[in-house]
Amino acid sequence: MIPTLEWTPAGVNFLDQTKLPLEETYVLATDYQQVATVIRDMIVRGAPAIGVSGAMGVAIGIERSNASTLPELTAEVEVICSTLAETRPTAVNLFWGIGQVRDIFNGLAAKNTPIPEIKTAVVELAKRLYDEDIAQCKALGANGADLLPKQGTVLTHCNAGALATCGYGTALGVIRAAVERGHHIDVLADETRPYLQGARLTAWELMKDSIPTTVLCDNMAGHLMSKGRIQAVIVGADRIAANGDTANKIGTYSVSILAKEHGIPFYVAAPFNTIDLATATGAGIPIEQRNPREVTHSNGKQMTPDGVGIENPAFDVTPAKYITAIITERGVLRAPYNESIRAMALESELTLAAV
Ligand code: MRU
Repeated sequence: MIPTLEWTPAGVNFLDQTKLPLEETYVLATDYQQVATVIRDMIVRGAPAIGVSGAMGVAIGIERSNASTLPELTAEVEVICSTLAETRPTAVNLFWGIGQVRDIFNGLAAKNTPIPEIKTAVVELAKRLYDEDIAQCKALGANGADLLPKQGTVLTHCNAGALATCGYGTALGVIRAAVERGHHIDVLADETRPYLQGARLTAWELMKDSIPTTVLCDNMAGHLMSKGRIQAVIVGADRIAANGDTANKIGTYSVSILAKEHGIPFYVAAPFNTIDLATATGAGIPIEQRNPREVTHSNGKQMTPDGVGIENPAFDVTPAKYITAIITERGVLRAPYNESIRAMALESELTLAAV
């Protein structure tokens, strides 16, 4: 298992993804401000990993607080949560993770629970969310494995793997599960400009698992599809609207249209907490704009003329009509997504109410 992030007695330990694949080094965050920096600077990235990091950030903020009264601690928790929430806007998992710890804190504070007990409870919750993330990825992997060809080439975009989660992956989790079942899969990894999550991270983690992997530039997928070289596409998601429109790494939208044109199935794999029922369509998903330097420079070297205009949206939205299925740990969703998503949400509410 690739240790993307880990709660330790010394703090939250993060594998520094900015340094991969050349260096395997770790960054220890010992307070919530450092966790916020780690998320903002993409030392940790990928929606589910960001979600659990957000939860651990709130937990470490509460655990290390010197507040001696509950009102004092409650005021601090508001600052902790808003600091972490301001790091990255698109992945809804971040707000989910922060919300999980804030909710348990508010519940315990409302009952006047002693501060040491609250500290123990929030740390336990953050650790549980970590374990649950791994279990969810394995379950969605199992749900999606047989959608992939028994033998063939699967294209993925960005990194939706162990590095983007707590250790198994969503899109790459489905690929891992298929390989574990004996499918012979060759993976094509889009390099994913400008941050190169495919070339640096997907290639690194799949090679560690001995899954055959080939990197291609983002503009090569259409050519390979036209030659019959790609049998399926699978990607992760940062936020799925209630109608199935899906925000994922910039470039995913173009790949989805190419897949449609060539009659190739296009799958999205994500834990159910990536679905944002409060956002009706993709038009309501906030798209992070990142530093133009990610586009103008490569490995510290300037690639573009001084003063040229630069675009750098980090995500785009794939309309639901291009998505063959959304694979979650609770099952596989098909169009019409408005209905299938609502039914799955309702079913989970009923199950929760029954226990
Ligand atoms: O900017 P990043 O690297 O955080 O973007 C990551 C992606 O777009 C992933 O595909 C997505 O978060 C799904 S990860 C399981």
